[in-house]
Amino acid sequence: MTDNQKIHRAAEIIKKGGIVAFPTETVYGLGADAFNPLAVARVFEVKKRPYFDPLIVHVANPADVKKLVKETPSNAKKLIERFWPGPLTIVLLKEENIPDIVTAGLPTLAIRMPNHPMALTLIKESKCPIAAPSANPFGYLSPTTAEHVRDQLGDQVDLILDGGPCPVGVESTIVSFLDKKPMLLRPGGVSLEEIESVIGEVGTSPSEDRPTAPGMLPKHYAPRTPIVLDWSEKSLDLYKDKNVGLLVLREPGNNLKFRPMEILSKRGDLREAAGNLFAAIRRLDELNLDLIIATPIPEIGLGRAIMDRLRRAASKGE
Ligand code: TXA
Ligand code: MG
Repeated sequence: MTDNQKIHRAAEIIKKGGIVAFPTETVYGLGADAFNPLAVARVFEVKKRPYFDPLIVHVANPADVKKLVKETPSNAKKLIERFWPGPLTIVLLKEENIPDIVTAGLPTLAIRMPNHPMALTLIKESKCPIAAPSANPFGYLSPTTAEHVRDQLGDQVDLILDGGPCPVGVESTIVSFLDKKPMLLRPGGVSLEEIESVIGEVGTSPSEDRPTAPGMLPKHYAPRTPIVLDWSEKSLDLYKDKNVGLLVLREPGNNLKFRPMEILSKRGDLREAAGNLFAAIRRLDELNLDLIIATPIPEIGLGRAIMDRLRRAASKGE
C-alpha cells in the first residue's frame, strides 16, 4: 500500500469512529473524530488517561478555528499566522459543538494545526477536526517513532500511520488566551522567546484558580528507570557502585565514556537535542539500569521544553 492509500484507510477508520495513531512534527498522536464522543472515549480508555485531562484538537486549516471557538483575540491570530502549521497550541473559549469529553468539561478548547503532511492529509480526508493526545500510555514518554507506538499500544489502535521519526521531538507549546495576558501553559516546540517576539510578554506561572494544562502534573513523561538531574562530582561519586546511565547534551570528559551514555546533540544544538530527547530516554530505559543521571540543559530556546520534560521525568510525583 502507498502512503496515500494508508492515509485514505486511516481517514475511513476515523470517519467510522475508530482511532488512529499518526505522526505530527512534534510527537505521534492518537486521533479520533473530535465530534464523536464514543470514539474520543476510546482514546482515553486505550491511554488509561484520566477524564479530567483534556485533549488537543487538530485542524488542517486555520480558518477552522472560527468554527470551534467563540472568539480569537488578535494576539492569538498573530501567533496562528506566524507559527501555523507548527508546534503551537492555543487555548480559547470553546463553541458548544465540541463534546465535553474532549475538553474534560472545561469551557475552553486547545487547538493546533500540525506541520506534518501525513497529519494534514489525514485531517482533510477525515473531514473533521481530530482530537489527539500523544500516543503513549498516560504518564509515560511521548512516542517519536511509529515503533514506539507499536511497542506500547500496538494492537489496541485500529491503525498506525508511519511517517518516520518526528522532527521536533517534544510536544507543542501551549499558550492560553483566557486572561488579558497570554499565559504559557506548557513549554514546547516553539520557544518562549519566539512567541514573545511576536506578541510581547507572556506569563509563565498560571494562577491557582485557572486550570493549567494537566500534562503539567509533576510526575509525567516518566520512564521506568529513575532519573536524577544532578550532575555534580559528589552525586556521580555517590552512585558509583550503581548501574548508571548518562543523558548528556554534548560529549563530557573522557573519564565518563565507559558508562552507557546518550548524547543529545554533539554540537550542543538544543533543537537537535529536543528531537532526540524521548528516543534517547527510551533507549536508556531499556537497559535495566538502576539510575539515569541527566545533565541540566541551558533554559533558553528549546532548552526550556527539554528541562521541563526532564524535571517531570525526574519527579517522584510529590
Ligand atoms: O505536540 C502536541 O501537542 C501533541 C501532538 C500529538 O499534537 N499532543 C499532545 O497532547 O501533547 P497531550 O494530550 O499529550 O497533551 C496535551 C496537553 C495536556 O497537558 C492537556 O492537559 C492540555 O494539553 N490541554 C488540553 N486542553 C486544554 C485546555 N482546554 N486548557 C488547558 N490545557 C489543555
Ligand atoms: Mg501526552
